[in-house]
Amino acid sequence: MSLTDQHAVVLGGTSGLGLATAGLAARRGARVTVVSSRADSAERALATLPTGTTAEVVDLTDSALVTALFDRLGPVDHLVFTAGEPLALTPLADLDLDAARRLFTLRYFGALDAVRAAAPRLRPGGSVTLTSGTAGLRPGPGWSVAASICGAVESLVRALAVELAPIRVNAVRAGVIRTPLWSGLPDADREQLYAATAAGLPLGRIGEPEDAAEAYAYLMEQRFATGTVVTVDGGTLLA
Ligand SMILES: NC(=O)c1ccc[n+]([C@@H]2O[C@H](COP(=O)([O-])OP(=O)(O)OC[C@H]3O[C@@H](n4cnc5c(N)ncnc54)[C@H](OP(=O)(O)O)[C@@H]3O)[C@@H](O)[C@H]2O)c1
Repeated sequence: MSLTDQHAVVLGGTSGLGLATAGLAARRGARVTVVSSRADSAERALATLPTGTTAEVVDLTDSALVTALFDRLGPVDHLVFTAGEPLALTPLADLDLDAARRLFTLRYFGALDAVRAAAPRLRPGGSVTLTSGTAGLRPGPGWSVAASICGAVESLVRALAVELAPIRVNAVRAGVIRTPLWSGLPDADREQLYAATAAGLPLGRIGEPEDAAEAYAYLMEQRFATGTVVTVDGGTLLA
């Protein structure tokens, strides 16, 4: 198995893209640590993940806790960052600048801070994989902040790939994927969003977490791509 004896740390690994990635990495032989902010979601995830997977409960917006986490974890081969929360879409006319700044806290600054804390622990041959979304390249009205976060993460990947080389640094750019991220929407609205999105895509369906997990696993396993973004979107960028 390609990840045998590798330590993969999945920040946000208790749900959605991260949970699927943690499961796939473990099945490919990695020793996996999943990290999230709530003990109940960590427990639920561990119940579904292969034996040997461990969980840490850490709020990734708290820099001191993030530093302590990597002190505890010791050497890491692969760092995956999928932690995130639903993004509120806001027309420019209704922009609340403090709320906009807060949206960068976890998805951009949380990712940056996690890499800062993990970098000294990353073993040769290791990798970092961050998370972006197609909204960065194909935003709709109201997506100014969400799209900007994606753009910032993708630029961060290129800068870190240069600074941390030969550690490889890449990102997965996801289209709409069926995960608990969307669970805040009323059921009927969510199904309507999924169906409308699927109908407009070349592949005729939205993504499943396992579709994205394949991309994170590829970016951990391959040896020559760095500073790149792998798109997993069913053709969203072409639609
Ligand atoms: N799903 C999509 O359609 C899609 C598309 C494009 C991009 N993305 C992006 O991909 C990322 C993952 O999305 P997803 O769909 O997998 O979301 P998800 O199912 O809601 O999972 C989010 C994960 O982040 C963790 N988390 C949230 N706040 C945290 C914090 N402060 N500290 C530590 N962990 C925290 C959650 O666990 P706890 O609640 O236990 O903290 C959970 O494990 C997000 O950034 C999302 O915006 C998703």
